[in-house]
Amino acid sequence: MKYAQVEWNKGTPRSARYGDVYFSAGNGVEETRHVFLQQNELPQRWMESGHFVIAETGFGTGLNFLVTMSAWLQSAPADACLHFISIERHPVSPDDIARLASRWPELEPCVDELLQAYPPPLSGMHLLELAGGRVRLLLIFSEVEHALEQINHKVDAWFLDGFAPSRNPEMWSERVFELIGRNTRAGGSFATYTASGDVRRGLSSAGFVVQKAEGFGDKRDMLKGFIFEQRCYVADRPWFTVPVVSYREKNAVIIGAGLAGLATAWALIKRGWKITLIDRHADIAGEASGNPAGLLMPRLGQGETLDSRFYSNAYVHAVQCLDRLQAKAAEQFWFKTGNVLVDDADKLKKIVESHQYPDDFISYIDSNHTEETTGVELARDALLLVNAGWVNVKRLCKVIRHECAERLDYVQANVADVSFKHGKWQISGANNDTIMMADCVVAANGSLSGRLAVLEWLPVDAVRGQLTMPAVTQKSRKIKCGISAERYITPAHDGRHVVGASYKLNDDSPGLSSLDQAENINSINRLIPQVFEQKAEPAGRVAFRAVSKDRVPMVGCVPDKAMFETDYRDLRHGRHSRHYPEGAYLPGLYLSTAHGSRGLASCFISGELIASMICAEPVPVEKEIVDYINPARFIIRKLKRGRF
Ligand SMILES: Cc1cc2nc3c(=O)[nH]c(=O)nc-3n(C[C@H](O)[C@H](O)[C@H](O)COP(=O)(O)OP(=O)(O)OC[C@H]3O[C@@H](n4cnc5c(N)ncnc54)[C@H](O)[C@@H]3O)c2cc1C
Ligand SMILES: C[S@@+](CC[C@H](N)C(=O)[O-])C[C@H]1O[C@@H](n2cnc3c(N)ncnc32)[C@H](O)[C@@H]1O
Repeated sequence: MKYAQVEWNKGTPRSARYGDVYFSAGNGVEETRHVFLQQNELPQRWMESGHFVIAETGFGTGLNFLVTMSAWLQSAPADACLHFISIERHPVSPDDIARLASRWPELEPCVDELLQAYPPPLSGMHLLELAGGRVRLLLIFSEVEHALEQINHKVDAWFLDGFAPSRNPEMWSERVFELIGRNTRAGGSFATYTASGDVRRGLSSAGFVVQKAEGFGDKRDMLKGFIFEQRCYVADRPWFTVPVVSYREKNAVIIGAGLAGLATAWALIKRGWKITLIDRHADIAGEASGNPAGLLMPRLGQGETLDSRFYSNAYVHAVQCLDRLQAKAAEQFWFKTGNVLVDDADKLKKIVESHQYPDDFISYIDSNHTEETTGVELARDALLLVNAGWVNVKRLCKVIRHECAERLDYVQANVADVSFKHGKWQISGANNDTIMMADCVVAANGSLSGRLAVLEWLPVDAVRGQLTMPAVTQKSRKIKCGISAERYITPAHDGRHVVGASYKLNDDSPGLSSLDQAENINSINRLIPQVFEQKAEPAGRVAFRAVSKDRVPMVGCVPDKAMFETDYRDLRHGRHSRHYPEGAYLPGLYLSTAHGSRGLASCFISGELIASMICAEPVPVEKEIVDYINPARFIIRKLKRGRF
């Protein structure tokens, strides 16, 4: 995506593309207060509940958001959370947003916070946690119709703020109104500055009771309205509709103290939950997440796929989490050196062309210039992931645990199963002894997830991986950033590099293999000629990745397999989805596993996804992607095609 071209005229921004202003030349702040806040009866309505959801069509300069955030911080209870979802197809640059603060100095603290977290202009959903978690901005950089289809939550109040309908008809289409109506809770409202007859009729057809109100400035009228009753809609794929469970107490148990479990614990603790973290080891990060280094890399496909959308957004979110955690940590665990991906030039070009990634996200480096970036000659083309780097994964896990502080209890136990008894989950050990009872359980136990009887059907494998830690050499010392090709290598730290990693299915040997050590080193020597000599046997580490059948993480609610097999038994005959009930999921049981070789990118957003499902909040991942990573996909595939 490219930043919008904004022309400023005496403090008023105007879009070159649409030939219209972002807000009124008179007083944009007063306009926001009159049109969007007052006519949606805010702040009065948000005083009634613990969280409130506003959605906006057209984020633009963010002025509406900033005025609303400022009002929320002044008037809402300190423990309440504002969820502000805003859709934008042409993101405004940070420099243009910064100009708001000079015109309205009272907005400066909010502008600064927004800009610190403002994402690159990359399509998809971006979650920005602001004001210590009191405001959660979900920015959707996308075409409006697509964005409205991806929202997973009902909205309390809408700010409809496209450019004038005559100049920007896509923002005011029948389909847009229909989706707005569908995504509004009973009692939900809208407000818009326009009084256009088409807009009035469109919103009435979508179920709103529409009224005229006094417009702002020289506008005589504007529109506002409420929905009294929600209409019923049949989901396209009802098996992926997950239930909302309400919990009396904010207590959850998480099985697995690796990055997946800790990221989920952190997301819940930020929402005021208490967590019991169970692991079979005496300390956290005893398995895959105990690695001394891993590269943070999104998986980039040669085309706009769900997979590349998931990983790009997850990666941007992970960078934000790592920055935030590092800023508070005593020890360095996050080395933001940038990473390069070395591959076949045609493949790299296709990745870049098909995604139109912003330059501050990814840049293409041809073989003549790789040495400037990496410090060593590679003689191959590469992509530079500008904000990427390498992470000491074990230290990262410790920092997250420290952040969770006394809200996290650690219990060492080997969980044999989790079963639903008398309305609660019983977590039991090998001798059928009860370790704990809980209403809400998250299984984040990596490559062993399928060993729990309740998850025995999960198609998850353990893939052995070996890291090699060679001592630094004169040549290797020059490596400036993470380099990923057939294997990866980190820059030297404490006199060593980390080279990863072998990839072996059906191999459960825990000891170091000399062959794997040699293969790791040889692979790097092929990439950077003679960088290492094979003298002494270098140090290494073995661990097991959790990998699903389709190599995509499994995150979300756990389906009731038996019920799925009954409800959807004739799916292969292709009946229309309206003939099927919504999915039956095990109430209060969630899963975050199969993060494969990219857990540094996928674990944080997965933790947020699970926490938002548990807390019945807007989900920070597009609906299509939530379905893409839903573990129930395997049961559905099997029913449709006879195999996972
Ligand atoms: C060699 C190797 C190299 C890698 N390199 C990278 C990289 O460069 N970049 C990247 O992004 N990712 C990399 N990964 C993947 C990354 O390490 C993981 O995706 C990430 O750490 C997430 O792990 P996890 O929490 O799902 O699993 P784990 O860290 O394995 O945690 C699972 C936890 O569950 C516990 N557990 C399991 N069963 C039970 C039970 N029944 N009862 C109690 N506790 C239980 C285990 O003890 C363990 O602590 C690599 C992985 C390996 C193995
Ligand atoms: C009037 S401006 C919004 C002003 C904004 N609320 C503010 O506070 O600055 C309208 C916005 O809608 C965006 N927009 C226009 N067409 C769009 C589309 N089809 N999908 C998504 N956004 C669109 C524009 O890029 C522009 O930023």
